[in-house]
Amino acid sequence: MDYKVADLSLAAFGRKEIQLAEHEMPGLMAVRAEYAAAQPLRGAKIMGSLHMTIQTAVLIETLVALGADVRWVSCNIFSTQDHAAAAVVVGREGTVEDPKGVPVFAWKGETLEEYWWCTDQALRWPDGTPPNMILDDGGDATLLVHKGAEYEKAGAVPAATDDDPEEWHVIVDTLKSTIAAQPGRWTDAAASIKGVTEETTTGVHRLYEMHKNGTLAFPAINVNDSVTKSKFDNKYGCRHSVIDGLNRATDVLIGGKVALVAGYGDVGKGCAEALKGQGARVIITEIDPICALQAAMDGFQVATLDDVVGIVDIFVTTTGNFNIITADHMAKMKHQAIVSNIGHFDNEIDMAGLAKIPGIVKDEIKPQVATWTFPDGHNIIVLAEGRLMNLGCATGHPSFVMSNSFTNQVIAQIELFTKTEQYPVGVYVLPKHLDEKVARLHLDALGVKLTTLTKAQAEYIGVDVEGPYKSDHYRY
Ligand code: NAI
Repeated sequence: MDYKVADLSLAAFGRKEIQLAEHEMPGLMAVRAEYAAAQPLRGAKIMGSLHMTIQTAVLIETLVALGADVRWVSCNIFSTQDHAAAAVVVGREGTVEDPKGVPVFAWKGETLEEYWWCTDQALRWPDGTPPNMILDDGGDATLLVHKGAEYEKAGAVPAATDDDPEEWHVIVDTLKSTIAAQPGRWTDAAASIKGVTEETTTGVHRLYEMHKNGTLAFPAINVNDSVTKSKFDNKYGCRHSVIDGLNRATDVLIGGKVALVAGYGDVGKGCAEALKGQGARVIITEIDPICALQAAMDGFQVATLDDVVGIVDIFVTTTGNFNIITADHMAKMKHQAIVSNIGHFDNEIDMAGLAKIPGIVKDEIKPQVATWTFPDGHNIIVLAEGRLMNLGCATGHPSFVMSNSFTNQVIAQIELFTKTEQYPVGVYVLPKHLDEKVARLHLDALGVKLTTLTKAQAEYIGVDVEGPYKSDHYRY
């Protein structure tokens, strides 16, 4: 079996944590039981690019239990939990000497070159064939296939320029070498892939953009916009893991500090609530009047970053946008202000601009925590080099909330793989009855007792007794 992880001897520890997580992931375990006999994913060759954590291990083993052949990478250079990666490779039946699990190419602290090498490895089976399904988080695997196919068709990979980000240079090099090694490979992959299921807001934006431009090569299910994903993982997941990231990285007392949350979408709402819960005085920045009004009515000050940058102790960006905190902002921050991002990509904070400030000195305190000292002597603390801090500095979201997200993922994979002809190229969300099913699978574990509609009540509000209970435009 081909794989590359940090240390296979961590597998036993990983397996114990996977067993604990299984209990906390009732949705995933229920779909495992429901579909085990039918094996709906038999014949599926799924390439997954999603943070290689303990929770993801339970997802991977669920896909395998439903018949899939799986290869996996992390979608972030810092987010892999090495014991989870090792346990997945070794598998339930294997040993460190004779691993029998799933090929994983991921370790904590990859370089960008290693990251794209891993993505390439997982997109090619040992016999040279491509996957027929992608499970993506942020869209990097989808991007590589699309760009590869586009450049193969054009006959050349355009050179990266000095204006392009460092990562684009690495992507271009990866595409050049892979096309040289196996010409036609990406075109073949784009044609073989029946569809992609996408986990996060940022990846979903990319998919809608490609569909709008007419460049999307295969259908996609937007898992993020299942209500049981974005209104739970993005909000309640970040409500938990933003504090975990801050504590593990700095252990600074949050109570009494001034915290700034950039963006008041689902992630921002969770982060702001958590910081407020710790006793911080929270300021929100927003560009959308609706979200800004929500923040104000939730009791937060809403300001511009420029107006408050000098009084903030803890910054968290959650926008999915770029250049939110500029080098100029960072130069104006308080001594030892903490600067962090929980959005998908690292360009919310201008790390390249920070590194270019003449005389600036970076000092690594420990992995994923560094001070940057300005020529005037004051410094700031930057978490995870501007990459998502909850996965870089802590262990991401806990199992229970990820069970909601990943149950949607498994259902979406089954939908696209088994009903391919019902999904012409486009971007879809799962139907509401499946969203409600995911929620239902998590109620017992929390002791929730649901009220059953009477037939007369159901008729009165115009729904079926069994649901769906809301129209598609209901916003929750
Ligand atoms: P969202 O679209 O609900 O929220 C983003 C908010 O940022 C919007 O309200 C938007 O108006 C605001 N915004 C955009 N530009 C801004 C600017 N220049 N200044 C201030 N506000 C601005 O998106 P969501 O679901 O909250 O996701 C945000 C990011 O977090 C995405 O990149 C997503 O992929 C990522 N994410 C990360 C997770 C993690 O565990 N770290 C979990 C879930 C999502």
